[in-house]
Amino acid sequence: MKIAFANPVIAKSGTVCVGVTSGAKMTEAAKSLDKIIKGAIARTIKVGRFEGKKGQSVTLPAPAGCNLEAVILIGLGEPKKLDALSLQDLGGKIYASISKSGSTAVSICVDAVRGCKLSASDMAAEMAFGARLRSYRFDKYITKKAAELKPTLKTLTFHVADAAKSRKAFGPRDKVADGVFMTRDLVSEPANILYPETLAKEARTLSKLGIKVEVLGEAQLKKLGMGALLGVAQGSVRTPRVVVMRWNGGPAKSAKSKDGPIAFIGKGVTFDTGGISIKPSGGMEDMKWDMGGSGVVIGLMKALAGRKAKVDVVGIVGLVENMPDGNAQRPGDIVTSMSGQTIEVLNTDAEGRLVLCDVLHYCNTKYKPRMMIDLATLTGAIMIALGGERAGLFSNDDKLAKAIYRAGEDVAEHVWRMPLGSVYDKMINSDAADMKNISGGRGAGSITAAQFLQRFVGDTPWAHLDIAGVTWSKKDAPTVPKGGTAFGVRLLDRLVADEYEI
Ligand code: BES
Ligand code: MN
Ligand code: ZN
Repeated sequence: MKIAFANPVIAKSGTVCVGVTSGAKMTEAAKSLDKIIKGAIARTIKVGRFEGKKGQSVTLPAPAGCNLEAVILIGLGEPKKLDALSLQDLGGKIYASISKSGSTAVSICVDAVRGCKLSASDMAAEMAFGARLRSYRFDKYITKKAAELKPTLKTLTFHVADAAKSRKAFGPRDKVADGVFMTRDLVSEPANILYPETLAKEARTLSKLGIKVEVLGEAQLKKLGMGALLGVAQGSVRTPRVVVMRWNGGPAKSAKSKDGPIAFIGKGVTFDTGGISIKPSGGMEDMKWDMGGSGVVIGLMKALAGRKAKVDVVGIVGLVENMPDGNAQRPGDIVTSMSGQTIEVLNTDAEGRLVLCDVLHYCNTKYKPRMMIDLATLTGAIMIALGGERAGLFSNDDKLAKAIYRAGEDVAEHVWRMPLGSVYDKMINSDAADMKNISGGRGAGSITAAQFLQRFVGDTPWAHLDIAGVTWSKKDAPTVPKGGTAFGVRLLDRLVADEYEI
């Protein structure tokens, strides 16, 4: 689908959408269109009890007196409640209702609405962003699709007073959507197609955006001493990879500058069978998206480079497949992490922390970042605590935690802070090694997982997002079709823009 911005004229063909605010107040475009179609809008409002409530919409098919296919009245609700998020949702909902309607060209007329804080050009840009986000599909493996299920919409045009300004505002949002789409693609691919080697190859494609991509293979990981990560990988014929992506968009630094990059780290378990502590077969297919954290980091790098973010960023993903073959790690094995700390692996299904601990340590010691944020589909327990509505946030730094929380609220990727503390930390002390990879108790599973990670971040400001509950969705939302959500890309893009760009 192409998104275009054009002057505020009423289109003469295709389908036209116009807004009506609460109390059935027509926008200027609605009034002009109503004249062309001889009062049909006014009549519809009257007869159809169309009050312009938010979310209300009504379609007038093939109105007389013009060549239009249809006119759609969109309820905008209370003008003062029209903010960026509600306009994105509106754009997404409009997309969903028209994309398969048969129309190939749809125009949306956007006027300044009295009482709404956004200018018409910003309103159009937000609606366009929402429509684009909703337009994502992953149907490459469907070879026989019924015609009526295929989108017909080719061009969505926003008619707005300052089209150039709208286009400019949409530019960076469009790049963020590119990153979101890449993440959704990666998360949706099955594990026979996407495994450490092929996922690393996908990450390499970012080099055309000016990102420096370095792929560490098994031999290098051994040399670095990443015994925890390698222990997880050893049960699979697919060898592990660690991918380092660097985007240097920040100002040139003096040689003495101590300002390190900001860092994002992702869990990339391309399939999690559980290993020898094998998972039940029901629902195991979901574990193709156990690389969701790495998918977010890769999509985020794409978004940041795409919109040329003025910041130095390093993104590192640890890619392994957790399988139970004859060479697989056993419960009770003791591995030595890159940090030198030893780990008793009591459950091979608590593998994400084993991958992340080496990547976090590598990132911290090699790149000396100003802060690190990791993302991982780490625990089923976070789904019990927060459901699919919020990700779990853990941090050793209040300021960072607050900034992440706020960014999440701003983009509607919600997080909730969970506690850390020595009482939880103690639960992973082991009699046989420096720590064990599960507490062994029934409670606080997401917290003890986070405590485990914290043992590898030193004093660096750090946050961990447990995204197990929010990475995949079973139902459509206005800007997120069901499937891979890419939760985290927009949140972290916003965090970077608000807190770290100059
Ligand atoms: N990848 C899973 C967590 C997960 C579960 C993500 C469901 C998404 C949906 C993780 O590796 C795991 O298996 N965690 C175990 C930890 C346990 C063994 C301590 C869990 O949550 O059951
Ligand atoms: Mn697991
Ligand atoms: Zn896992």
